[in-house]
Amino acid sequence: MTSKVPLLNRITHYIVRRKGKQMRPMFVFLVAKMVSNGNFTEKTYRGASLIELIHTGSLVHDDVVDDSNKRRGFFSINALWKNKIAVLVGDYLFSKSLLLSVDHDDFDLLKLISVVLKDMSEGELLQIEKARQLDITEDIYFDIIRQKTATLIAACCAIGAASVGSSKEEIEKMHHFGEIIGTAFQMKDDLFDYTDEKIGKPTGIDIKEQKMTLPLIYTLNNCSEDKKKWLINSVKKYNKDKGRVKEVIAFVKESGGIEYTTKKMKEYQNKALEILNVYPNSPYKESLVTMVNYVIERKK
Ligand code: IPE
Ligand code: IPE
Ligand code: MG
Ligand code: MG
Repeated sequence: MTSKVPLLNRITHYIVRRKGKQMRPMFVFLVAKMVSNGNFTEKTYRGASLIELIHTGSLVHDDVVDDSNKRRGFFSINALWKNKIAVLVGDYLFSKSLLLSVDHDDFDLLKLISVVLKDMSEGELLQIEKARQLDITEDIYFDIIRQKTATLIAACCAIGAASVGSSKEEIEKMHHFGEIIGTAFQMKDDLFDYTDEKIGKPTGIDIKEQKMTLPLIYTLNNCSEDKKKWLINSVKKYNKDKGRVKEVIAFVKESGGIEYTTKKMKEYQNKALEILNVYPNSPYKESLVTMVNYVIERKK
């Protein structure tokens, strides 16, 4: 990661010292091992690294887009160095990831990761469009989270399989498996926003950003017309009023929005576990089962 630009070096140093859960590289390694009976290659390491680079770059950009000042328990890059620098640092991380695959002629990985970058930007833009129009439906919610989050986790699993020379069918199957886990993963993240738990980043900011996630979408579809007007008005005009946002959160909780989202998330958990079922037992499969359950049960 060293560069000739001292400012960039200081920032990458800051980023590298504040690691996240590193779940995505774990998916790369565990899938590689499960489909090949414990073999993995240098290419698996490269795949794991390029995924974490893309993920980290996307978080640096996400905190600019969401105007968020905390990440992984510390200040975000935009909080410390401002938006201009954060945008460029995110781009730098993306380019390092792409170069890592190009420099080793890993063109299959490059293709997978290029699709992810396209999907993530589209997903984030669709989310912004819906936040402006406030007309999101459950289907659109699932489209958004598939594009902004699930495709990257799908790519993790596909890259794990591709790195050990799996067949096209196997790679596609693992891609599908990752997409399901990724969807559950973002639903869990959206549930965190409705709590006061210490997760290393702010909670209760989705409504402030006019981001309508599944707990709220469910509530809107299952309340009286008057309440619906009040909710939309709250998100539209009172999204920066902390007291009003608290009232909205309380109403979503009373209306069963959290239970509904949790139930849906568990459906995805079970679908993912079903896909693993057909594989013969191995320590790698067992660890993947643990990972799938962790996505749903994690505390941060
Ligand atoms: C956060 O991902 C971004 C989302 C897609 C919700 P993680 O929760 O995996 O972030 P880190 O890497 O552990 O900080
Ligand atoms: C995460 O979006 C998806 C990407 C990083 C592209 P969020 O905005 O929901 O994630 P957090 O909650 O800030 O980590
Ligand atoms: Mg965001
Ligand atoms: Mg965010």
